[in-house]
Amino acid sequence: MIGKLNHVAIVVPDLEQASAVYRDTLGATVSNPQDLPDHGVTTVFVELPNTKIELLHPLGENSPIAKFLEKNTSGGMHHVCYEVEDIIAARDHLKAQGARVLGNGEPRTGAHGKPVLFLHPKDFCGTLVEIEEV
Ligand code: CO
Repeated sequence: MIGKLNHVAIVVPDLEQASAVYRDTLGATVSNPQDLPDHGVTTVFVELPNTKIELLHPLGENSPIAKFLEKNTSGGMHHVCYEVEDIIAARDHLKAQGARVLGNGEPRTGAHGKPVLFLHPKDFCGTLVEIEEV
């Protein structure tokens, strides 16, 4: 069912420093920071030949990643995102398999303007999983 790895998201305490690590130390192509107020994050996209890394930093008071950063003060891997062709079909399949879909179960518009859902980390080897319809 899942297709390509769309991105790996890493929460960072300092976006400028994290951007420098990916740009200067690792030699990757790194975007400027983008504020996504609807998602409560500021993101930097790192373009790799086969996928993307998203560096995330909390934006605003109700950021969904604020607690993660409190627990992981030096940052850490937050989620992986897999592509699916049909997010509703994917959701229904996952639910039928006993997986827990977070939120109200209805897809939201993700950081790339496409429908996304998040899946409970306890059902996926301890890793928060995002699925994105492409
Ligand atoms: Co994501």
